[in-house]
Amino acid sequence: MVDVIPEPRHVQVHGDGSFELGPATKLAVGEGAERTERWLRATLGAATGLPLPPGEGEDDDVVRLYTHPTVTKDLGEEGYRLAVRPNGVHLVGGGPAGLFWGAQTLRRLLGPDAFRRAPLPGRRWRLPLTRIQDAPRFRWRGLMLDVSRHFMPKDGVLRYLDLMAAHKLNVFHFHLTDDQGWRIEIKRYPRLTEVGSWRARTKFGHRASPLWEEKPHGGFYTQDDIREIVAYAAERHITVVPEIDVPGHSQAAIAAYPELGNTDVIDTSSLTVWDNWGISLNVLAPTDNTLRFYEGVFEEVLELFPSEFIHIGGDECAKEQWRESPSVQARIEELGLADEDQLQSWFIGHFDKWLSARGRRLIGWDEILEGGLAEGAAVSSWRGYAAGVAAARAGHDVVMCPEQQVYLDYRQDAGADEPVPIAYVRTLEDVYRFEPVPPELTPEEAAHVLGAQANVWTEVMEDQGRVDYQTFPRLAAFAEVAWSALPAPAERDFADFERRMAAHYELLDALGVGYRPPTGPLPWQKRPGVLGRPIEGAPPNR
Ligand code: ACM
Repeated sequence: MVDVIPEPRHVQVHGDGSFELGPATKLAVGEGAERTERWLRATLGAATGLPLPPGEGEDDDVVRLYTHPTVTKDLGEEGYRLAVRPNGVHLVGGGPAGLFWGAQTLRRLLGPDAFRRAPLPGRRWRLPLTRIQDAPRFRWRGLMLDVSRHFMPKDGVLRYLDLMAAHKLNVFHFHLTDDQGWRIEIKRYPRLTEVGSWRARTKFGHRASPLWEEKPHGGFYTQDDIREIVAYAAERHITVVPEIDVPGHSQAAIAAYPELGNTDVIDTSSLTVWDNWGISLNVLAPTDNTLRFYEGVFEEVLELFPSEFIHIGGDECAKEQWRESPSVQARIEELGLADEDQLQSWFIGHFDKWLSARGRRLIGWDEILEGGLAEGAAVSSWRGYAAGVAAARAGHDVVMCPEQQVYLDYRQDAGADEPVPIAYVRTLEDVYRFEPVPPELTPEEAAHVLGAQANVWTEVMEDQGRVDYQTFPRLAAFAEVAWSALPAPAERDFADFERRMAAHYELLDALGVGYRPPTGPLPWQKRPGVLGRPIEGAPPNR
């Protein structure tokens, strides 16, 4: 039985024979296989203790890695064919990425212990005689991680990239800035991290909780850390899409540089990095100074991140200060705009043009549709499907990440033991039945759905264990939705998925992932007495 998650397109098992990897097994590689070769030797080499020396394609006892145009034609750049024969393995990618995803399947076929970092005694590394053909349904298979609300040290980020690779996910949306912390070094504005990267204390639990963690919280990635993260991701065929959130969710930046805020409404020099959760009213002032400042930020961001898309946030920009500020009202007048929504649209439009002029594309949360969206921009549809449908109909590309389905901070069970439960109940089965393409789209419109993304907001996840608990096992279900050619939600075989999850839990155990067990949280995964915000209706900001 081959129980791979995400499920491959086509699997044939040939009898009960096997090919066994051993000390003499070689790796023979063709063009385009360099990254996969390095990864296999490092990762499988560590897990098995086998040296996997270089070999030739004609050898016996060899794992061959190459790309071939027929696979590209049939299955695309990310597709692969994997054949395990008695004398070795043929892994053929449509492109380098396809080879890498095929290598993930190969590791999976070796069993859970292939996911450890050192060999267990007496293990044998047998592969069933198999032919697999596989390719992803979507080209954007994303995970968003919020490292602002709670900082995840660099090691943890690299670990998440490995976890993404094991699930064939390929876009890491890196939410680097928010009201509660600025996490990326910007050389020309050192106060962004000196001041903006830490807060004196933190609300423990959701907004309703009376508890505080009375200790400083903070951290940031240096530019070299970012370069390392981007390169580590690229080795794994993962694109890192950075998010610098404007013009809302900017209190940490305003605390560092008070002139960025609405100084005629409040005394921004007394602002600190926010220690509570929700939507801060302290938003950027739409001045030329602010635009120039953020152009400076984005200049450094573009040097660090080669991705086509740059995320500029655009969500939940509170308009109170803009309404009260005489200088903002004068700006609206001067620009000939109707209201604050149009001002937000103008602000986003500025960076859309700025990014386009530099060969990049803007992506933002679906609020960027309000007041009109610039051509070429793409939308992360988070408040449901409607914005994504409207954007696709208007010819914009869309990443589907509706909070009702794939916000992994939302509680995964209705039980009282769920740690700091917030918003809707979204079980493993709910995520498994998430459908990224709304049925009302025509095929042409549906082609604008680049794919799907699961979002991990970390207000109530104070450490890696909490992030693991919220993210897994649901990310495994999400990965199957994003990769596999599943039928319509009601027809999906969740019972079979659950059956395959049994082996997947062993793999997660070997990887050291602190997932939520099917039977509920372990004692140390509970947070008794820490208030969340469970709601059944539409959650205004969680
Ligand atoms: C969001 O959840 N505010 C994008």
